[in-house]
Amino acid sequence: MTDPEDVNERQILRSWTVNAAPWTRAIETSSIASRKLVTDHAILEAVASVGARTVWDVGCGEGWLVRALTAAGMVACGTDAVPELIAQARRGAGEFRVLSYAEIANRAMTAAADGPSSSALRAPAYDAAVCNFSLLGKESVATLIAALAGHLVERGHLIIQTLHPVAACGENPYCDGWRPGSWAGFDAQFTAPAPWYFRTVGSWLSLLRRSGFELIECREPTAPGAATPASIIFICRQRRAEPPL
Ligand SMILES: C[S@@+](CC[C@H](N)C(=O)[O-])C[C@H]1O[C@@H](n2cnc3c(N)ncnc32)[C@H](O)[C@@H]1O
Repeated sequence: MTDPEDVNERQILRSWTVNAAPWTRAIETSSIASRKLVTDHAILEAVASVGARTVWDVGCGEGWLVRALTAAGMVACGTDAVPELIAQARRGAGEFRVLSYAEIANRAMTAAADGPSSSALRAPAYDAAVCNFSLLGKESVATLIAALAGHLVERGHLIIQTLHPVAACGENPYCDGWRPGSWAGFDAQFTAPAPWYFRTVGSWLSLLRRSGFELIECREPTAPGAATPASIIFICRQRRAEPPL
């Protein structure tokens, strides 16, 4: 029998594949008000605050953040599972590769099994990884975050911007679980909304902790006059290795 979790994860990627063109247009025309007003600036400020010189944008979409980080003087690279979005991204500045979270996690596992001579370990180590509204699934996200620490320099940073769990919870119970997707507020070109996995604030924090990160700051960017935050940003750092007993 097909695992419903896998079906949800596959639906996420299918949805981004079929919506690559309208998504690219929405970003090019700055038509998502919360991004224009609050969250684009918030993520750029958060990345700047950690002083990173090299940044990996994980789930980069059509690449706007890599272009903005490059313009700000950082060396930035973006990866995404959707070839159509990476093709769009390659029209601008920065380096881009098609790479899914499962592939990133598998590479980390292969590297651990192969030991220090593994080519995966010679992959570039970044000062920071950033995930801007790109963490949508359950297992795909848990395995990605667990793998990311291995791709960063020692004490490297991970910066995540996502929907604020309190604001996004709506009428549902405040507990982890899959939620139905919706393109409400987007134009009619968007189709096939995918489910997404809701995590409470506590659940995000424990996922980060067990994946080798410590939280150094949590930001809640809010539009002027708004009742609830537009997003939540977790600024984390790779934990120090435990000293041997
Ligand atoms: C809301 S878009 C955000 C794109 C970009 N970070 C931005 O700020 O515009 C979510 C992105 O996450 C990517 N994504 C979701 N699940 C993924 C996975 N399992 N592997 C790689 N990319 C994934 C999608 O392809 C999509 O580009």
